[in-house]
Amino acid sequence: MAAYKYETHEYDVVVVGAGGAGLRATLGMAEQGLRTACVTKVFPTRSHTVAAQGGIAASLSNMGPDSWQWHMYDTVKGSDWLGDTDAMEYLAREAPKAVYELEHYGVPFSRTEEGKIYQRPFGGHTTEYGEGPPVQRTCAAADRTGHAILHTLYGQSLKEKAEFFIEYFALDLIITDGKCTGVVCWKLDDGTMHVFNAKMVVLATGGYGRAYFSATSAHTCTGDGGGMVARAGLPLQDMEFVQFHPTGIYGSGCLITEGARGEGGYLTNSEGERFMERYAPTYKDLASRDVVSRCITMEIREGRGVGEHKDHMFLNLMHLPPESLAERLPGISESAKIFAGVDVTREPIPILPTVHYNMGGIPTNYWGEVLNPTEETPDAVFPGLMAVGEAGCASVHGANRLGSNSLIDLVVFGRAAAIRAGQVVDRDSPIPVTNTESVDKALERFDRIRNANGSISTAELRLEMQKTMQADAAVFRTDATLAEGMEKMKVIAAKMDDLKVTDRSLIWNSDLMETLELTNLMPNALATIVGAEARKESRGAHAHEDWPERDDANWRKHSLAWIEGNDVRLAYRPVHLEPLTTAEEGGIDLKKIAPKARVY
Ligand code: FUM
Repeated sequence: MAAYKYETHEYDVVVVGAGGAGLRATLGMAEQGLRTACVTKVFPTRSHTVAAQGGIAASLSNMGPDSWQWHMYDTVKGSDWLGDTDAMEYLAREAPKAVYELEHYGVPFSRTEEGKIYQRPFGGHTTEYGEGPPVQRTCAAADRTGHAILHTLYGQSLKEKAEFFIEYFALDLIITDGKCTGVVCWKLDDGTMHVFNAKMVVLATGGYGRAYFSATSAHTCTGDGGGMVARAGLPLQDMEFVQFHPTGIYGSGCLITEGARGEGGYLTNSEGERFMERYAPTYKDLASRDVVSRCITMEIREGRGVGEHKDHMFLNLMHLPPESLAERLPGISESAKIFAGVDVTREPIPILPTVHYNMGGIPTNYWGEVLNPTEETPDAVFPGLMAVGEAGCASVHGANRLGSNSLIDLVVFGRAAAIRAGQVVDRDSPIPVTNTESVDKALERFDRIRNANGSISTAELRLEMQKTMQADAAVFRTDATLAEGMEKMKVIAAKMDDLKVTDRSLIWNSDLMETLELTNLMPNALATIVGAEARKESRGAHAHEDWPERDDANWRKHSLAWIEGNDVRLAYRPVHLEPLTTAEEGGIDLKKIAPKARVY
């Protein structure tokens, strides 16, 4: 047995991760009197939500007519008909309530002249079920909306006496008789081990953007929840759908918010042409982001890229009044200066599509309960475990997420998980006792990794993985690139057994920490490329050049990926087609969301 002593903690609920979803869940749990711990590998307000810029979607109608049904329609269309109808309805219906709650908690939203929450246009958000002009639905705190939300939720969670365990890295889930009963953690600053026993564990660990070479994601976005779930023998869902944000700064990948186009910015090619007018005549630069990313890529391929290597595009903001740039887009004006040396009042920003978001993740229902699907019971719940935010897949984003539907996903489903936990967690029942067998297994694995003495460094292997994913699971995919990429990734994953960890210390050991993160990135990356290779159609972010059409008859289904060694076993589960409420009850008319060609 690995010789690690550990301290034991007991809670009703343990939330892993302190981004927008984790904090909203933590706050909601604590408000209901559940004894709640939040375990996080970074200081809460450094979680990646802090980097969310443009805003949070909700049909408040502050800037003109809007409705939750229009929001739902746009989300269904944005998902390219792969989202679950019940979850998308829940998101759109609950969004206004969730945003007003944030306002009352103290989020400093930007304001209109009349003092209402300011809302800006974002790609794919429309009026009249896609027949009317773009809608201003994205509620913003300048271009630092995630920062504002995160700070507010952290303050409120402290006020409600949630307990924070900061800079604790979650190693593995504790599974007892087919149920999650806790999580094992390594405390980074003193090297001690900690076992959290709980009636409910909530994974809010974010995405796995760092499986790619160029991503807007922080270095901490390593899919830790997905890694733990995969090791627990549970599947990941819809992993082939990876979003490229159209406007990462060329070279650094740093995000330039879609809000920049929402405020009137536009893209141009080497001929100075506003090329989006050709591809998306109605919504132009405000088409859905998978569409815009593909158009940029096609322009570059056809030789109309800008710069010395003709390999990127320009985002123009010079025509916008300097006062509105200062008021509405101060953060990206600064980023453009720092990362591209550009003064946005005079020059265009060089941009390139950059990995930004994972539509796939840990499958859940719309209450955040993790699923353990079988063919007979595709919606079976795995007890004691929830997943929210980018780590989860409810699935509201299907094959492509609309901009600003991410922040609203975090708070709506973080809140939903808390509501559900309030119903299913029995406050009077005893906390599960320590499952020593499961804890020992986690610590032995930790010890093996800590003492890994092979021949390849973590940094080298990570780079191989990132370069392969970037090249072979890109904006456009083909049978050939995916098959080659899949084989390469299997070879790369096999090299995990040959890793060398050079620093054996237990305290502030970034080599060990990054190796553990790599063990989480790898299953996420494998599931992504294997799922993509298998899906013979084009849908949302999965643009397959050999299968250019969406194929609803054969492929309107969620993929499930179980990681078995360095291999992936795939199966599929049906998309939920039933809404929560009928048209007679005030819900959406199902005819409105019937599948059709997705044009903008
Ligand atoms: O462009 C942005 O501000 C990103 C927003 C989002 O991904 O939702």
